[in-house]
Amino acid sequence: MVVYRSSTTAPVNIAVVKYWGKRDPKLNLPTNSSLSVTLSQDDLRTLTTASASEAYTEDVLLLNGAPSDLTGARTQACLRELRTRRAALEDKNPSLPKLAHLKLLLVSENNFPTAAGLASSAAGFAAFVRAIADLYELPASPTELSLIARQGSGSACRSLFGGYVAWRAGDKADGLDSQAVEVAPASHWPQMRALILVVSAAKKGVSSTSGMQQTVATSGLFQQRIATVVPANMDLMEQSIADRDFAKFAEVTMRDSNSFHATCADTYPPIFYMNDVSRAAIRAVETINQAAGKTVAAYTFDAGPNAVIYYLEENSEAVLGTFYPLLQSVDGWKQSTNFKSTVQLDETISSTLKGGVSRVIMTGVGEGPQKTDVYLVSEEGKPLSTSS
Ligand code: ADP
Ligand code: DP6
Repeated sequence: MVVYRSSTTAPVNIAVVKYWGKRDPKLNLPTNSSLSVTLSQDDLRTLTTASASEAYTEDVLLLNGAPSDLTGARTQACLRELRTRRAALEDKNPSLPKLAHLKLLLVSENNFPTAAGLASSAAGFAAFVRAIADLYELPASPTELSLIARQGSGSACRSLFGGYVAWRAGDKADGLDSQAVEVAPASHWPQMRALILVVSAAKKGVSSTSGMQQTVATSGLFQQRIATVVPANMDLMEQSIADRDFAKFAEVTMRDSNSFHATCADTYPPIFYMNDVSRAAIRAVETINQAAGKTVAAYTFDAGPNAVIYYLEENSEAVLGTFYPLLQSVDGWKQSTNFKSTVQLDETISSTLKGGVSRVIMTGVGEGPQKTDVYLVSEEGKPLSTSS
């Protein structure tokens, strides 16, 4: 029995202008544009193999070794769109193998915690869509595929590109203009680094999907965010990236994160994603910037307490040198020496960080999805694991 296979990796992205709010939950259309930095797959990546065979009797997704639900409306929307495009190709070219009607076996592994606020859904859905599109040999650009991935999880549409990526909200009712585009490749500003302080690897309280719906329905502040704050931040952010102006990039990143979390606090009942450890990370970044006499570090927080701190490679010492002495006992440091800084953190901030950070991830801007010949499905159609 022939088994058709295709494998891809896909990256995580962390927004610096946040997506928060849907204007159409069914098509997963956002209330506002957003912009993110794609992070290196050397550190965080999803690997997904899509396979099709007459031997399969149902669509199956194995995620990190365990069966995972494929029946959700969002996953089904992605599968339907991909199959429709393959069927159109087969209609045009009858010599193509008939894959559109075959069941799929999808096997995926994240090399980092799933559903822990580290954007696994973004990397996961981007890899899912890209692997099936490659299997089907669809002549679709990353922007075209972003329209499909968006329906799986909004932030996933930005993971189809490397570097600096915007998701244009669009205004059409059918969502055909709500897609991701590359603002600049990673090579434009390759010095961008990210230090992630993993505060809690536990599953989060309020999911992004439901949290943003509550915000849209109840927050007055949110109206101002989408009408004026985000459009201004998008312009400033794109300009700062074009100019490689870190101080401007950093200020917009921090202000946008603050604005997003303020709308969460303004949601009724309020939603709190940040905790005391997150707030200590904010104070630490402020202390680093004060000591440097300029802005060398920027914090941002998604729908969870983990801090993502952006900085330029040339300022590694100021940033890593402040956190490393406190957190050297946790996993994730790439080099253990040379990180010495004169920055003195307040005692309460230091002890809160020490007690609350469980792991760090050192990474930086990186490339988009990559096709690979590492397969998680054997030639016989059996699931494999990278550890087997
Ligand atoms: P996170 O903060 O990690 O993005 P979410 O709770 O928002 O967490 O999303 C986690 C969900 O994303 C998983 O339950 C699963 O449905 C989906 N997901 C994560 N990784 C993958 C993957 N590799 N392939 C397919 N879906 C994935
Ligand atoms: C705070 O993309 O997870 O990380 O579209 O409902 O799946 P759904 O939401 P999701 O929301 C991400 C929210 C965010 C900000 C961002 O990534 O832009």
